[in-house]
Amino acid sequence: MAIRISDIAAEEALLDVEAIRADFPILDLVRNGNPLVYLDNGATSQTPRCVMDAIEHYYAARNANVHRGVHYLSQAATHDFEEARKKAGRFIGTPLACEVIFTRGTTEAINLVAQSYGRTHVGAGDEVLISYMEHHSNIVPWQMLCEEKGAHLKVIPINDAGELDMDAFERLLNERTKIVAVTHVSNALGTITPIKEIIRIAHSAGVPVLLDGAQAIPHMPINVYELGCDFYAFSAHKMYGPTGMGVLYGKARLLDAMPPWQGGGDMIMSVTFEKTTYNTLPYKFEAGTPNIEGAIALGAAVDYLERLGMNAIAAHEHQLLTYATRALQEVPGLTIIGTAKEKAAVISFVLESAHPHDIGQLLDDAGIAVRAGHHCAQPVMQRFGIPATTRASLALYNTREEIDALVAALHNVNKVFG
Ligand code: ALA
Repeated sequence: MAIRISDIAAEEALLDVEAIRADFPILDLVRNGNPLVYLDNGATSQTPRCVMDAIEHYYAARNANVHRGVHYLSQAATHDFEEARKKAGRFIGTPLACEVIFTRGTTEAINLVAQSYGRTHVGAGDEVLISYMEHHSNIVPWQMLCEEKGAHLKVIPINDAGELDMDAFERLLNERTKIVAVTHVSNALGTITPIKEIIRIAHSAGVPVLLDGAQAIPHMPINVYELGCDFYAFSAHKMYGPTGMGVLYGKARLLDAMPPWQGGGDMIMSVTFEKTTYNTLPYKFEAGTPNIEGAIALGAAVDYLERLGMNAIAAHEHQLLTYATRALQEVPGLTIIGTAKEKAAVISFVLESAHPHDIGQLLDDAGIAVRAGHHCAQPVMQRFGIPATTRASLALYNTREEIDALVAALHNVNKVFG
């Protein structure tokens, strides 16, 4: 039986969700006779038609390598590729294209910083400070660096609500700390971390800050200059763009002083067997033929999100999160993992009656896609003493009716396993 939260009045629509849903062909899929309810947006978001069109247009009318040809197609592809860089920069508030490095995704962006900035600045006995709620992609690159250099990985603890312990953060920060790398939004808990405070405190100790923005970028307006962060990493496929594409923002001053981390074409100015001189920013960090259609499609995703408005998206998702949180709390035996005061549209939970994988399977039978597992954040699971959670992660096209369907399906899980 579907639980309807009748005491939550239907607020004025901030987004025309019905029109938006028509932009996403995949949302029309039917599974086992049920309409697809896609609540795994934290893993990857769905793709609007305009992004698919951008990819098709690239291959139909632009396909050529960039920065290499005098012919029309190469010039046109280069133009569109560099326009996409400007759009990505504009989306996060930097007017400087040289501060936007295209990568394969958030993971590669963090590895770039660890391998380039990290290997230059972190030495034996130094410390890298991360938090307990990091995705593996913001743990393992730093661990590898620390192992190589004889440095130490330090971890900011979190409380039972899944919030950073800011007193511990201040205590852990010291003259050996060479970089602070924390998530902006936790993929497993939904916590929005107090990044302005983190940056203020770290900078007062002279320590740069990298933010993993993978889970923040589709949910709220981001301005890296207002934040003052030194590095910001994000992926296109979590913001309605293509997979295999991401961005590392870095302050030009820092990027300029960093050595390249991969060698190859496009990242050089001149090569002889005796010596290679490197290209200027951002190309110094973009060895080899880049993901051209990926960049152009990312630019199309930026256009799409800007048309809808990030403030309206944030408000819609916040309302949906509030609705979903209240609705899920009505399900007997359900505990939400991650109850921070500041949360983005992610709800992780456990149910007394069933293991997350069984829940995920039964929900899938009902056409509902969620993620079940450790969410590439095993330390978070260890912190809460659980092997896994079921996670519903929301996006701009989700509706209250879909939340109702989730809740009804969870009641059914209780019936089957209870
Ligand atoms: N990092 C992605 C997630 O949280 C894959 O699901």
